[in-house]
Amino acid sequence: MRIAIIGDIHHYRLFMPPWHLFGKRLLGQCNLWLNRRYCLEPALLDVLIEQVAHIEPDLLLLPGDLTTTSHAGEFEDIAARLTPLTRSIPAVAVPGNHDRYTFASARRRVMEQMLPGVVPDRWPHFRQLSERWYLLALDAAVPRFLNSRGLIGQRQLKHVRTLLSHLTPQDGLVVLCHYPLKAPPRAMPLTWDHKLADDRALRRLLTRCPARILYVHGHIHRPWCWQPKHSDQSHFTYLNAGAPCMISAKHPLGQGFWQVDLPHTPSQHMRIVHYLPDGHFRALGEEAPEPANGWVARAVA
Ligand SMILES: [Fe+2]
Ligand SMILES: [Fe+2]
Repeated sequence: MRIAIIGDIHHYRLFMPPWHLFGKRLLGQCNLWLNRRYCLEPALLDVLIEQVAHIEPDLLLLPGDLTTTSHAGEFEDIAARLTPLTRSIPAVAVPGNHDRYTFASARRRVMEQMLPGVVPDRWPHFRQLSERWYLLALDAAVPRFLNSRGLIGQRQLKHVRTLLSHLTPQDGLVVLCHYPLKAPPRAMPLTWDHKLADDRALRRLLTRCPARILYVHGHIHRPWCWQPKHSDQSHFTYLNAGAPCMISAKHPLGQGFWQVDLPHTPSQHMRIVHYLPDGHFRALGEEAPEPANGWVARAVA
């Protein structure tokens, strides 16, 4: 089974009616005008969507932050832009903190309403993907005025505990959650005001789960994929999807997207490929094994 993963898109609208700019959205729009619009290039998404369709995935996963201020218009735009994929490929999206940016958008469940069939209407969301693989999607986004901490909450954790109790060492579990559980050893540590408040509780549940785990997240705008080697999480693979429209010196054409080929038997090799717009890896002198349609693909596992 082939999965495509597109990270934090952060779609925005520069212009909004002034009467929509209340509370935190006003701060978000100010930040957009002064900073973010210079490092987010929305046009990169269209070529990325073309390439995602080209790899013919069976499932599309979106780990959240589809929007910038959770405005209904932003969701409307992103739903339309994703249509080339979502009309033919099953897709699952979880909310990021920017998709629950205001208390009103969270209370009205704007994301669920604007992306029906893509955003589950109940949390946690659990489904069987194949004979041995399962998907667990979590809603960890809560509106906060002063920070961007996430929270799974006791109710979801209780359900997760029950769901995981049915899994065996022969099974595989893809967890989709906006927030990381852990940063790679050489990355900047996750900060208090930006991390998942109950990460320890979720990590403990997943560590005890006997199934092989692929933990897919976003939130930190730096793509990575790593496996803890010397810990009780050796059955984990962490994949940070990054931000496809975010440009920087290191990623001048955005941070690309991911392909994961789940093996029929979860204990077998899981092929993970990071696609980047062409130019990046060659500029760094790294190998570009599968150039196609202006993209380079790097197999990371
Ligand atoms: Fe985020
Ligand atoms: Fe983000």
